[in-house]
Amino acid sequence: MRTSSLTIMIFANRRFPAARPRRMRKDDFSRRLMREHTLTPNDLIYPVFVLAGEKRSEPVSSMPGVNRQSIDVLLRTAEEMLELGIPMISLFPYIESGKTPLAEAAYDPEGLIPSAVRALKSRFPELGVMTDLALDTYTSHGQDGIIDESGYVLNDLTTEILVKQGLCHAEAGVDMVGPSDMMDGRIGAIREAFENAGLIHTRIFAYSAKYASAFYGPFREAVGSAANLGKADKYTYQMDPANIDEAVQEVAMDLEEGADIVMIKPGMPYLDVIRRVKDTFRVPTYAYQVSGEYAMLQAAFQNGWLKREACIMESLLAFKRAGADGILTYFAMDAARLMKEGRGYY
Ligand code: PBG
Repeated sequence: MRTSSLTIMIFANRRFPAARPRRMRKDDFSRRLMREHTLTPNDLIYPVFVLAGEKRSEPVSSMPGVNRQSIDVLLRTAEEMLELGIPMISLFPYIESGKTPLAEAAYDPEGLIPSAVRALKSRFPELGVMTDLALDTYTSHGQDGIIDESGYVLNDLTTEILVKQGLCHAEAGVDMVGPSDMMDGRIGAIREAFENAGLIHTRIFAYSAKYASAFYGPFREAVGSAANLGKADKYTYQMDPANIDEAVQEVAMDLEEGADIVMIKPGMPYLDVIRRVKDTFRVPTYAYQVSGEYAMLQAAFQNGWLKREACIMESLLAFKRAGADGILTYFAMDAARLMKEGRGYY
């Protein structure tokens, strides 16, 4: 048989592939040995909606599996979080009355959130407690700040109120505050107020790169601000989804002003921003898998279109791979349970 020299060359080179990445993928043990990223309960922060009263646990219709909880119910949730090894809870209030244009209720020491903080910290001192600093649930118009006649959110006046809210929560014993408002200079103002009050241990978790996203819809139902906000939007303070250099600027400012952790929000559509921020600053960087991402996945699970356990774990692991140190997620309890039962996908 005559064979051309070209055919011989190809035959010699192609008899077997130069590398076989599939060798390491063949068995579970070797897949585990080369796994680059992992998810543990230490990576999770659990956001919870709190409401007044007792023995109340009300489902949020656009977030199946999520309930607004009164403080007594919240304490049971906290106990389960500790059993599962989740380090921190993040509290968001559902305010049913007393909303005003100037959001005075936001810094009432007897308000829902300071009361929840005191209850949690006295019962479970080892559980990290974070609170949201923003006025959207306290304003009659649903914006995160105080507005002028034209509806524009006033930066410096809003910051003054956020400082009062931060001090009120810190005095109630909160471990970490999470300003989610996107006012300029608020991290520095809050840090200075904490230092002046001797509150040197209260951490600031800065919602640094918070985009004006359509994925927050279910959250606004959960906290009851959707109706107040109506057709208004948050484009004059939250970031344009088209931008990424601006996210780097925002993070730089927050770090300069004294943030302990920075955050990118939403999560899954913004993995590139997480990677860029982590590579640029190498500081504790978190992602928020927001309400719309949660709702979208739950809807697909309910329809049998996606596999629940595998998709929860894959979506969370993706944040770690993108460079996040951890994730705020409504799936925190489900994910930690799966990990504990050894039923995690990874
Ligand atoms: C408001 C706030 C929002 C979220 C957290 N804090 C909504 C908004 O900015 O309108 C969204 C969280 C989520 O969608 O899960 N300060």
